[in-house]
Amino acid sequence: MKGGVLVRSIILVVGIYIFLKFVLPLVTAPLPASLIFLYLTLTLSGILIFATLSGESTEAFWGPIFRFLRGDGQEGAMKLARLAVLLLFPLLVGWQTYNSTAPSDQPPGENRTIHPAPPGEFVGLSNPFQPTPENIAYGKGRYFSLCFPCHGNFDGKGPAAKGFNPPPANFSDPTTIAMLQESYLFWRIKKGGVGLSIEGMPWKSAMPRWEHELSDEDIWKIIMGEYDGAHQKPRTWE
Ligand code: HEC
Repeated sequence: MKGGVLVRSIILVVGIYIFLKFVLPLVTAPLPASLIFLYLTLTLSGILIFATLSGESTEAFWGPIFRFLRGDGQEGAMKLARLAVLLLFPLLVGWQTYNSTAPSDQPPGENRTIHPAPPGEFVGLSNPFQPTPENIAYGKGRYFSLCFPCHGNFDGKGPAAKGFNPPPANFSDPTTIAMLQESYLFWRIKKGGVGLSIEGMPWKSAMPRWEHELSDEDIWKIIMGEYDGAHQKPRTWE
C-alpha cells in the first residue's frame, strides 16, 4: 500500500486540527491559536520521526511527494495540479512576505493606562459638600452646560464625542466613575487631559482642564451631579 503512510498522516493532522478547533470548544473554552499551532507542530514532529524510522517507511512517506513534484509519468489533471502547486506556492510565500513587511496605514496599537495614579495632593480629599437636592441640581446644571457636548447624557455619547480618541468617558459604565473615588474625579476635572501623569501617555486626551473656568466648589457639586445622573456611587474604602 504505497502512499498509505502519507495519506494517513494527513488524515491524522487534519483530524487533530478539527478536534482541537471545533470539537473541543463544545465542552471547554476554545483553545488559543498558538496552543493549537503547538499541538499540531508536535503531531507533525511525531509523524516525521515515525515515518523516517526505516528506509522503507521513509520512501513510503516522501516517495509520493517527490514523485508528484518531479512529475514522473504524469498525465492530464495530475500534470496541471503539479503546475498549479509549483506556481501557487511561490506566489503564496511572496504574498505572505509582502503582507508582513509592507508598511501599513493603520496606527500602531497604544497601551494607555486609563486610570493612572493621581498626584499626591489629590489623594484622599473628600467632598466638602452635602449631597442635598439643591447641590445635585446645581451640579447637573453645570454638567449639562459644560460637559454634555462630550460626555452626553452621562453615557459618553455627546454630540461632539465621535471626534475624539480616546473617547469621552461613559459615566454609566461600571469601569469609570463607579470604581473611582470622588478625589480622583476632582483631580481629573481640575487638571484634564494635559494633567494626566506619566502613565496616562500619550496625552492625547481631549478632556479639558477646568481649573481656570470652575471653582473648587463647582467641581465638587458637578461630581455629585455626575454620580447622581449616572446612577453610580463613588468608591469609598469603608
Ligand atoms: C472636549 C470634550 C470633553 C469635555 C467638554 C469634557 N470632557 Fe471629560 N473627558 C473627555 C475625554 C476624551 C475623556 C477620556 C480621556 C481621559 O480620561 O482623559 C474624559 C474623561 C473624563 C473623566 C475621567 C473618567 C475616568 O474614568 O477616568 C472625568 C471624571 C470627566 N471627563 C469629567 C468631565 C466633566 C465633569 C466635564 C465638564 C465639566 C467634562 N469631563 C467635560 C472629554 C471631555
